[in-house]
Amino acid sequence: MKKEMSIIEAKYEAQKIAFAPLFFQAMLALKKLGVLKLMARNNRGIPLGEIAETTGISIYGAQVLLEAAASAGVVEYLDEQTVQLTKVGYILHLDHMTEVNMDFVNDVCYDGAKFLTESIRSGKPEGLKTLGQWKTIYEGLAQLPEQVKKSWFDFDHFYSDDAFPAALDIVFKENPALIFDIGGNTGKWAFACCRYNPGVRVEIFDLPGQLAVAKSNAESLGVQHRIGFNAIDLLDASQQIPAGADAIWMSQFLDCFSETEIVCILKNVRRAASHKTFVYILEPFIDNQKFEAANYCLTGTSLYFTIMANGNSKMYTTGAMTRLVEAAGLQVTEIFPLIGDSYHTILKCAIAQP
Ligand SMILES: C[S@@+](CC[C@H](N)C(=O)[O-])C[C@H]1O[C@@H](n2cnc3c(N)ncnc32)[C@H](O)[C@@H]1O
Repeated sequence: MKKEMSIIEAKYEAQKIAFAPLFFQAMLALKKLGVLKLMARNNRGIPLGEIAETTGISIYGAQVLLEAAASAGVVEYLDEQTVQLTKVGYILHLDHMTEVNMDFVNDVCYDGAKFLTESIRSGKPEGLKTLGQWKTIYEGLAQLPEQVKKSWFDFDHFYSDDAFPAALDIVFKENPALIFDIGGNTGKWAFACCRYNPGVRVEIFDLPGQLAVAKSNAESLGVQHRIGFNAIDLLDASQQIPAGADAIWMSQFLDCFSETEIVCILKNVRRAASHKTFVYILEPFIDNQKFEAANYCLTGTSLYFTIMANGNSKMYTTGAMTRLVEAAGLQVTEIFPLIGDSYHTILKCAIAQP
């Protein structure tokens, strides 16, 4: 956003924030009701009456939604009755990242968002009660209502999937025979490793709910004999990661914790590591994104952590994560910024040399 603006422009920007939740729901309604799709098929503009008739909504419904869409820059009125989709409208209709983000915000975060102030005061995810009675969302992931679960996993996978191909090249440069995947979730990274290298074994460490899903996925893919499933709660410092890994992999995992918790988990990793173990941290860091949209998504994601996930974690900067790595007795030996076609950076770490 431009830094120099008049008070009139600033007042307009402030109103966008004031009405943001209503505009968000209006754009979602235009998607769900099939209006955006219909407009995309009529790229030279389409009369309001035809939109109402084809999608089965009232003229009134079409009017309020499309007038809001015009204010939001999603459509343009060519004349009093004819509307056309703008570039923003096409992005809302077609762009996968936008769809994943909107579904995540609507299904996972929206109802809980009202509890943000309370979450900041208490340091707890006060919005989570809108989904279930858990201390963190990770304890409840496997039990979330189907649509909420789908939106959560689509969001999680959308961001890590794109990073995996380039990450595999980086991790397998060191020829690991045994990889520990900490916070391995439903097993996507473990399966990618098994596909990439026919000899490698992967031990997944996660909470029991996610492990059960990973195990059943591994069985469907016929790779269960190459993968181990280890239930662990890494917030409990007495639960130790065992020794023996050539590589310890943490993908979009440490951002689920506060700085103090990260140091504690990394100390656990440090104890499990030998001088030959490489530790890989894959994260989308807020300070090295190519696009403003990416930075916006990440700072928005931090708010999800506050309201819904655990109340104390966030997306970090490269410098902040490096300091936490060092505080745990590890050192960053190499940085792979923005790998492949993704928003992610890999910090390759090892036990700190005295
Ligand atoms: C954001 S997901 C990342 C999943 C996967 N690594 C990826 O890149 O898509 C975080 C994972 O950490 C796990 N997790 C969260 N808190 C945990 C804890 N206290 N102990 C062990 N695993 C935990 C969650 O269950 C989840 O699978």
